[in-house]
Amino acid sequence: MIAIRGATTVESDTPEAIRLAVGELLAAVRDANGLREEEILFILFSNTPDIRSLYPAKAAREAGFAAPALFSAAEPVMDGALPLCIRVLLLAESDRAANHVYLRKAAGLRKDLKRYAIALDGPSGSGKSTVAKRLAKELGILYLDTGAMYRACALKVRECGAPVTEEAVAPIVRAIDLRIEYENGTQKTILDGRDVSEEIRRPEVSMEASRVSALRCVREKMVELQRKIAAERSCVLDGRDIGSFVLPDAEFKFFITASSDVRARRRFDELRAKGFAVDLATLRKEIEERDRNDSAREFSPLRRAEDALLIDTSDLSIEEVVREVRRKMQEKV
Ligand code: DC
Repeated sequence: MIAIRGATTVESDTPEAIRLAVGELLAAVRDANGLREEEILFILFSNTPDIRSLYPAKAAREAGFAAPALFSAAEPVMDGALPLCIRVLLLAESDRAANHVYLRKAAGLRKDLKRYAIALDGPSGSGKSTVAKRLAKELGILYLDTGAMYRACALKVRECGAPVTEEAVAPIVRAIDLRIEYENGTQKTILDGRDVSEEIRRPEVSMEASRVSALRCVREKMVELQRKIAAERSCVLDGRDIGSFVLPDAEFKFFITASSDVRARRRFDELRAKGFAVDLATLRKEIEERDRNDSAREFSPLRRAEDALLIDTSDLSIEEVVREVRRKMQEKV
């Protein structure tokens, strides 16, 4: 069993603002701790006495938290207290370490829990996503696979049969229903209500993703979503432009790379293991073409941020890379 603490503030004492803040806080607590809804046993809220228009517990019930026991209580009037504040204590079945979540103005209440971001950029096959997943697990923070978001856009464009142009794709991304959810700490990519996490890994989607991700309309929408996720909790993000564009102020930045031969061999092994019939020479050509596309595009290309530390993984195991990243992080704090 774990006890997770959290807090947030509301803009004003209205039912809408309370619903929004409570829904956002509970989703952030759930995601930051990789909890399934049925693992949450009990949620206790307290609120400053200037909140009177809706019980936070009622807002939680309305936000779909149907199973856990819910309770709200008003806090005493305290000199100098942060106004319009909702605090939460959530008990859940889990054996992981608790990640407490403080949002909006409440973030200032717990400076010791300061949110931080790790940007891992690099070309495909460099090993960054495996490293990112391991890091997130070891540090108890969220992993955001931004490539999956571009892949989901590419899948949608393919399904619509649209050409890869700004004009054709802009209305599609504007209407796209793309959600990133977490199940036991694993990212699920949900497109129009359907779990496409496996489908987006198909080789034909990879190539299309490289082209679709070059479009400004796609990048603007995805970057907005990525920044929103990263603003709410500590996370590791892997991609191409995280350190250079999405989160230029990320606390830790790494550029992970490897030779194209090594990268092609890794993809080959990975796809073979999943049962795809692939050819090594074709994969190498595709990887080099994607590198060119990703690096040459005009808007937010694959680029090493000036302050990103370079790690060449060609001759390193995953464990060695993770150790190196953590060592470099230690040196910096
Ligand atoms: O990392 P990946 O292979 O799953 O990424 C799929 C494509 O999306 C890749 O060709 C580059 C693009 N991408 C991007 O442009 N920016 C990101 N932050 C992540 C991926």
